[in-house]
Amino acid sequence: MNTPGSIVILTGAGISAESGIDTFRSAGGLWEQHRVEDVATPEGFARDPDLVLGFYDMRRAGLAKVGPNPAHEALAQLEREFPGELLLVTQNVDDLHERGGSQRVLHMHGELKSALCTSCGMRSRWEETMIDRPPCPVCHAPSLRPDVVWFGEMPYRMERIYAALEACDLFVSIGTSGAVYPAAGFVQEARASGARTLELNLEPSEGSRLFHESRLGPASVLVPGWVDEVLSRAVSGSSA
Ligand code: APR
Repeated sequence: MNTPGSIVILTGAGISAESGIDTFRSAGGLWEQHRVEDVATPEGFARDPDLVLGFYDMRRAGLAKVGPNPAHEALAQLEREFPGELLLVTQNVDDLHERGGSQRVLHMHGELKSALCTSCGMRSRWEETMIDRPPCPVCHAPSLRPDVVWFGEMPYRMERIYAALEACDLFVSIGTSGAVYPAAGFVQEARASGARTLELNLEPSEGSRLFHESRLGPASVLVPGWVDEVLSRAVSGSSA
């Protein structure tokens, strides 16, 4: 594989699994513990705001008990040392990419540590609970909701993502089941623009056959190994 000039990386819950954060669709995962329609839709929030605010309060508080793993740290090294263009898009709402050292992370599904005010529409960094209806730091209305993209809502920064997929030479998907669009369609966008596509996952994702190459194993092993490959090629400038 030639040394890529620009890389787009998409991560999912699998990259945080070894840090101790539940994925969604594996056995015992989050969507077995809670019904999606109850805790991850605008309708669920309207029906029972306490249930939803409590669900995200629990997940936000859980971040203090986990830390980044070698996969997060390897992507931060790639950001520091890769000479070309790099866009890291994550479906994850945790802060482990940032705590692993990544400075530029595009959270297409939002973040646990961000609050969205349903009165003034402003976003604020948020570490506390919301079930107690704290005032919005901007307009002071007790109208905060998790700044997380629920089913039926539009993911963030899609124009930016599609522009990067159009321009990239390499698209790498890490730790995602390929079960949820639009992220699951990124591999086709990348292929259509001539990029090579690589999947690093514990098991074949739903879109595995769409990737030129698929490596199976834990992210904490596969991602550092892949980053070493890319950086050593970039340094030697080889097109092997
Ligand atoms: N290393 C690599 N991959 C792993 C590991 C691991 N240690 N553990 C699990 N995986 C893989 C699983 O094989 C699976 O393919 O991670 C993937 C996790 O899939 P999901 O639980 O469906 O999570 P994700 O793909 O991120 O879900 C996408 O769905 O519910 C929405 O908004 C939510 O962002 C989420 C989106």
